[in-house]
Amino acid sequence: MERTTIEDLYKNAELVGKSVTVAGWVRTIRDSKSVGFLQINDGSYLAGIQVVLEEQTLSNYEEIVRQNVGASLVVTGELVLTPQAKQSREILAHTVQVEGGSTPDYPLQKKRHSVEYLRTIAHLRPRTNLLLAVNRIRSEAAQAIHSYFYSQGFSYVHTPIITGSDCEGAGEMFTVTSLDLDALPKTEQGTVDFHEDFFGQKTSLTVSGQLEGECMAMALGKIYTFGPTFRAERSNTQRHAAEFWMIEPEFAFGDLQDDMDLAEDMLKFVVGWILTRCKEEVAFLDKFISTGLEDRLWQVKESEFGHITYTEAVKLLEKNAGQFEYPVSWGMDLQTEHERYLTEQIFQKPVFVTDYPKEIKSFYMRLNGDGKTVAAMDLLVPGIGEMIGGSQREERLDYLQKRMQELGLEESQYQWYLDLRRYGSVKHAGFGLGFERLVMYLTGVTNIRDVLPFPRTTGHAGF
Ligand code: 4AD
Ligand code: MG
Repeated sequence: MERTTIEDLYKNAELVGKSVTVAGWVRTIRDSKSVGFLQINDGSYLAGIQVVLEEQTLSNYEEIVRQNVGASLVVTGELVLTPQAKQSREILAHTVQVEGGSTPDYPLQKKRHSVEYLRTIAHLRPRTNLLLAVNRIRSEAAQAIHSYFYSQGFSYVHTPIITGSDCEGAGEMFTVTSLDLDALPKTEQGTVDFHEDFFGQKTSLTVSGQLEGECMAMALGKIYTFGPTFRAERSNTQRHAAEFWMIEPEFAFGDLQDDMDLAEDMLKFVVGWILTRCKEEVAFLDKFISTGLEDRLWQVKESEFGHITYTEAVKLLEKNAGQFEYPVSWGMDLQTEHERYLTEQIFQKPVFVTDYPKEIKSFYMRLNGDGKTVAAMDLLVPGIGEMIGGSQREERLDYLQKRMQELGLEESQYQWYLDLRRYGSVKHAGFGLGFERLVMYLTGVTNIRDVLPFPRTTGHAGF
């Protein structure tokens, strides 16, 4: 079908006065004796468009004004400007065809629904302005990320989703099996015998593509992944999902400073992309969801991100210990409240925290000269806390082996990873950006469940 998008009606001045055909879903509908008005939206533009229905022009006037919210229509008519009205233009309908009707109990009526209610209708909520704005920004942010890395000469690589290794060593993996759960084969010791499983070994859904990403970076030089990631963490928070998307760049011949420079440059590029390409969406979210969003995004684009070491950060937090539910001391992992205090109160902008104690970070991070900390960085941002986690990797075979032994990691399972340190090892670094946390940041939405079209969290895998 030849149709014009509603976005075009607003942006293409040549269409004014012309006959256009638009197709979409009814948002509101009302009529008096001989004239009716409806608002339809086709997903291309938040505002939708008003359609004027006149009894004398439309042979099926009665059928149209009886339609319910949610019905799908194809409208042909003249696009006219309405400088006096609230909306800037409308369509004077010549013909209207009902594509699919709706019923009076359509779950999305013209009123503000709570985000909690919308989560119970995840199949319909994409039709709301909130989700339209979020999903548009999500899509644009993904495009921006690909564009950025492409422009910087990074190759996009695909790492496996089913894996035999635990990258983060946190044991938060979902097992993948084709064994009959009601009749599991057992070893002599009474444990499950994964030799009989599909892959002949125990496998899980990946928590990160980093280890394979490192292999690819040792060949292609600069790579990034962008794919789904899974974590069986039982943390029921606003910023954790069991299935989320992660972007993981990895590059050879670079250190922690290069890693932070890359993260900052990439984020500013993405923010700039959204500010130019999603003006309506950002303005809408600024007005209804998060006051000041647009200003904050501009600030990020123009500010220089802060830098502080973990050790200095802990000192600062200890001075303000009264503010926190969890006390801080050197050696412990920072809680969300600490992260947010650093970025929101102290720096009031994104800040990199670097050089964490090795005990609270993953095995692959490069040991610093002090023997206690590793060349790690987390990027903390206001409103969210950790958005990025990255590090320079341990490229020295003996150091890496020693660390793995300390942590009780089975060396035999990581031979291929250790080989990277045996054959042409180089200084290298990378990071992981949580895509949903980025989208939360770009939209001002405070719950991860509302930036994932169909969220998977503890106890929830509906739709
Ligand atoms: O800090 P993380 O665990 O780092 C890694 O996985 C490294 N292998 C990345 C690398 O260096 N290549 O996770 C990276 C980011 C976090 O900063 C956070 O934004 C996001 O992934 N993330 C989650 N997002 C949503 N739900 C969860 N459960 C998340 N866990 C981590
Ligand atoms: Mg992390």
